[in-house]
Amino acid sequence: MILGIETSCDETAAALVTRDGQIRANIVSSQAELHARYGGVVPEVASRRHLELVSPVVREALAEAGATLDDVETVAVTQGPGLVGALLVGLSVAKALAWARRLPLVPVDHLHGHVASLFLAPEPLEPPFLCLLASGGHTLLLDVAERGGYRVLGTSVDDAAGEAFDKGARLLGLGYPGGVEIDRLAQAGDPEAFSFPVARLDGLDFSFSGVKTSLLYRVRELGDEAASRRADLAASYQRAIVRALVERTAAAATEAGRDTVAVVGGVAANSELRAALPAARFAPLALCTDNAAMIASAGRYGRALPYPRYLDLDAYASRS
Ligand code: KG4
Ligand code: ZN
Repeated sequence: MILGIETSCDETAAALVTRDGQIRANIVSSQAELHARYGGVVPEVASRRHLELVSPVVREALAEAGATLDDVETVAVTQGPGLVGALLVGLSVAKALAWARRLPLVPVDHLHGHVASLFLAPEPLEPPFLCLLASGGHTLLLDVAERGGYRVLGTSVDDAAGEAFDKGARLLGLGYPGGVEIDRLAQAGDPEAFSFPVARLDGLDFSFSGVKTSLLYRVRELGDEAASRRADLAASYQRAIVRALVERTAAAATEAGRDTVAVVGGVAANSELRAALPAARFAPLALCTDNAAMIASAGRYGRALPYPRYLDLDAYASRS
């Protein structure tokens, strides 16, 4: 089995996955509540919490799989992009475990991990396909021609889609993380009540900073009335973001000549996005937000570094 470890943001996660993509255990300990009072992830708080959680989470994954370290043949770990302090906790634990057992280690790109959430049993998706990756940190259109990699066709020039959800939620006085809250509140609102424009850039890039600003102005204009119109605001705001994602995804699929469209990352959990792309393949809900099963899955296609050639590996903060 492959032991996957993920600590790039505010989820401490460990998973055990077989070579053929069966998930034997997938443990995610979310720190969301810890960060909620700050309205977002505080990097230093996240790193400290990862330190406390990572060993129990790995132990729990082994217990759930009915396995011991003897059953682990490879360790796969997120190397970046993410919060460097948070990444270093997972990376250090992965190195220590692999080194102590003389195992190979596969450094995994977090974004490739999201894509590899589609390669797990029971219904692995075969490339080629066009993939929309929408998370709190990234919005990317990827051409996936093989399981081991991808080509970037478009990206957000400013905020990520998930970040737009989170910032919009904060403007509406909702909790963190905001995507789920907006999704829930929007069910009770009218998506056509307000018109929020989304920038249309040339090519396949996205921009989400404008829609956030227009929500800010609308909330200010409404003043006291804003509270009673929250559901309509949430629904209209969500509609604008989803529309931008859907339009660009369709354009990218045409440009890349791909018939199959897949959607991964935290925003792939959004119910309106799921409804707006009925023919697309979405990652299973449990694998949309950050988890280690997807990292172990990607580890099957990455370059395994033999013992002990991984000891000097460093984390990286942003997409290279
Ligand atoms: O992939 P992920 O767990 O972490 C990153 O790699 O960033 O994505 C987290 C993001 C957050 O911005 C969160 O608000 C968003 O995914 N999200 C959603 C929903 N569930 C999570 N956005 C919209 N609708 C949802 N249901
Ligand atoms: Zn992620």
